[in-house]
Amino acid sequence: MTDPAPRTDPEIPGKPTSASRTTLSHIMTATDTNLYGTGHGGVIMKLVDDAAGAVAGRHSGGPAVTASMDEMVFLEPVRIGDLVHVHAQCNWTGRTSMEIGVRVMAERWNESTPAQQVGTAYLVFAAVDAQGRPRPVPPVLPETDTDERRFQEAQIRRTHRLARRRAIRELREKRVAEGLLD
Ligand SMILES: CC(C)(COP(=O)(O)OP(=O)(O)OC[C@H]1O[C@@H](n2cnc3c(N)ncnc32)[C@H](O)[C@@H]1OP(=O)(O)O)[C@@H](O)C(=O)NCCC(=O)NCCS
Repeated sequence: MTDPAPRTDPEIPGKPTSASRTTLSHIMTATDTNLYGTGHGGVIMKLVDDAAGAVAGRHSGGPAVTASMDEMVFLEPVRIGDLVHVHAQCNWTGRTSMEIGVRVMAERWNESTPAQQVGTAYLVFAAVDAQGRPRPVPPVLPETDTDERRFQEAQIRRTHRLARRRAIRELREKRVAEGLLD
């Protein structure tokens, strides 16, 4: 499974990971609850998309749109009153897309314990021009061993995303060719 897309545009200088790393914080209130009275997953997902979008905009130096969100994992419930921190960074860049990794931490309102990790997510953003067409992004330059590991893991996810899309498209085309219309 190889990625046929060129990894970067050689004309654009790279940008280090730290140049676009972003944290958003939010106190969970009574309007952020689900039916069980804990934090609503959709509220967390919006914070995740907001933080990732800020990173994508900073890294690409302009507008960027969410192309996909995968592996949104909720590890622990968030509770009302918790101070939630959403840390996001650019893990990987392609020609016009960026994978943004997000870690969600919660400081419990009624405990003096360190912030607990409550979720993670990986999003792909595409940088777009004024007409909404994909435009090239600067290659991300990993700075630490952790950044490098995240880059390598993002490349694996990218390869699997492309392979999955291709396999599903081929299956659908095959079913249509066989006259199996859904
Ligand atoms: C994302 C979007 C710009 C892609 O446009 P497109 O015409 O399909 O262009 P491309 O196929 O060249 O894709 C552009 C890049 O995004 C990546 N991409 C597109 N769809 C993707 C998906 N579902 N998952 C992962 N990456 C994706 C491509 O691999 C490509 O990356 P690369 O240049 O680094 O190789 C377009 O589909 C779009 O505007 N979607 C709506 C986005 C939006 O409005 N988001 C907010 C939702 S409210």
